Amino acid sequence: MIPARRVYIETYGCQMNVADSELMFGLLGREGYVRTEQPAEADVLLVNTCAVRDNAEQRVIGRVGELQRHKRAGGVLGVVGCMAQRLGPKLLEQVPRVDLVVGPDGYRNLAQLIDIAASGQRVADTEFRAWEHYEDVPPVREKGPTAFITVQRGCDYRCTFCIVPQTRGPERSRRLADVVGEVERLAGQGTSEVTLLGQTVNSYHDGEHDFADLLSAVGRVNGVRRVRFTSPYPTDFTPRVVEAMAITDAVCEHVHLPVQSGSNVVLRRMLRRYTRQRYLEVVAALRAAIPGITFSTDIIVGFPGETEAQFEETLSLVAEADFDDAYTFKYSLRDGTPAVRLPGHVADEVGSERLARLIDTVRRNARRKSLARVGEMHEVLVERRAKRGELMLARTRTNHLVLVDLPAQTVGEYHRVRLTGTTGSTFIGTVVTPALAVL
Ligand code: 5AD
Repeated sequence: MIPARRVYIETYGCQMNVADSELMFGLLGREGYVRTEQPAEADVLLVNTCAVRDNAEQRVIGRVGELQRHKRAGGVLGVVGCMAQRLGPKLLEQVPRVDLVVGPDGYRNLAQLIDIAASGQRVADTEFRAWEHYEDVPPVREKGPTAFITVQRGCDYRCTFCIVPQTRGPERSRRLADVVGEVERLAGQGTSEVTLLGQTVNSYHDGEHDFADLLSAVGRVNGVRRVRFTSPYPTDFTPRVVEAMAITDAVCEHVHLPVQSGSNVVLRRMLRRYTRQRYLEVVAALRAAIPGITFSTDIIVGFPGETEAQFEETLSLVAEADFDDAYTFKYSLRDGTPAVRLPGHVADEVGSERLARLIDTVRRNARRKSLARVGEMHEVLVERRAKRGELMLARTRTNHLVLVDLPAQTVGEYHRVRLTGTTGSTFIGTVVTPALAVL
């Protein structure tokens, strides 16, 4: 018998890439591949990549250089995902040791393409297949209490900074019944928290059902205790969706809601479809409907033409929206995006300086909010052992991380904890027994 070929996949970028890697393990598993965590043992090495910022791509180039040491005779080193899609065959020219380049719509052919590459012919597949949602491919996940579920692929929005429409193609939603089926299978195996994924996930529509229907249907699945989703688009929070969130108990009290900028002028140049005021209205509507809800966001500084005064509007928005957390980025010019044609390049040092000020503002706001939370009681889901020490890492419904002194076998359990301290972002908590909780 020929020994099974071993595949190693290293994943960069967003949660959808994590889900896509699970899909690739599913696809390759059907072809007899087995997974390995050790690049030195692998016959096939794949790097699943991100293209949203230049530094993400540079990191991958560096990593591919390191991984090529592990490539054995007849082995294959491939770059897949968004960077593969963006650069296509050019990547084969630029990086001589790469044998295989496959974009997010090409994974169905992965095994075949690997065979071609293994025979010595370097290949690229970056065709868009607007129908492809890999419905028939069961992803291979690490068994655990939480799971990512892709419900929508691609993007029809045209934010001028963003490369994703060029790397992931047009928007398409999976059928509600198919998503629910997958959630039921996961719940049957003990997964109680699901995160629904899409580029603009709340614009989900399968032709018959919208995102409100999807939330209610997933929230009704037996065994599902928590539903999260990422990332929504501000103006796709229709009253129906807000209502569904409010009445579906499983939907968690946290929304990651990318704002990108606090300046209307910048938002318009980014082709975001809302103003600062409209964004704040959406936040207020969600706060009114869902008590205790928390918000995180994505923010870009140094977008072409951004003035100091416009940047300061972003700083003031952080305070006004009162975010619990924010992912902050310095604008990175991406070839192929509309923003390359915009005038008003912001010097790198100016961008770095704004980023530092923004991070400081975000941290101070988060710290103030975290300190005020000490003493609160929360339900947490124990996810895994913390990196250091003996404590377990658990998460509140509001998406705060809590270190708790519990035994390792509590992974997957729900406990009530009192928050007793904070580093400013993470919390320390003590388990409160139900009897004590009554007192
Ligand atoms: N430069 C910097 N940040 C970007 N993002 C997307 N494109 C760019 C870019 N060209 C950020 C946005 C998005 C997040 C995933 O990455 O904030 O929400």
